[in-house]
Amino acid sequence: MVKIIYKTHDGDVSEIDVPEGWSVMQAAVSNGVDGIEAECGGSCCCATCHCYVDEGFADKLAAPNDQEEGMLDNTVAERRSNSRLSCQITVTPALEGMVVTLPEVQS
Ligand code: FES
Repeated sequence: MVKIIYKTHDGDVSEIDVPEGWSVMQAAVSNGVDGIEAECGGSCCCATCHCYVDEGFADKLAAPNDQEEGMLDNTVAERRSNSRLSCQITVTPALEGMVVTLPEVQS
């Protein structure tokens, strides 16, 4: 299990122990975290699982592929340098303690 910390736009924090190999989105949805809609179920085609990742973990994440890059241009909330789609982040032990901040709106 890997601890991922989800923070909503208004400051609610949920610490979730996530099985290795799950996506950050999958764990949020499975645990009822508010702020991720994930309308496409993780197929990288809705951009409603947008999140802002802890800058300190940027080098531990695989870079977004072309499809994710394209979808990140379609997020409802502002795209930032640390924007990612949470369905495309696979949880590994290197992400222990990573904080993921969720935007105010997804759609
Ligand atoms: S769940 Fe649809 S893009 Fe991530």
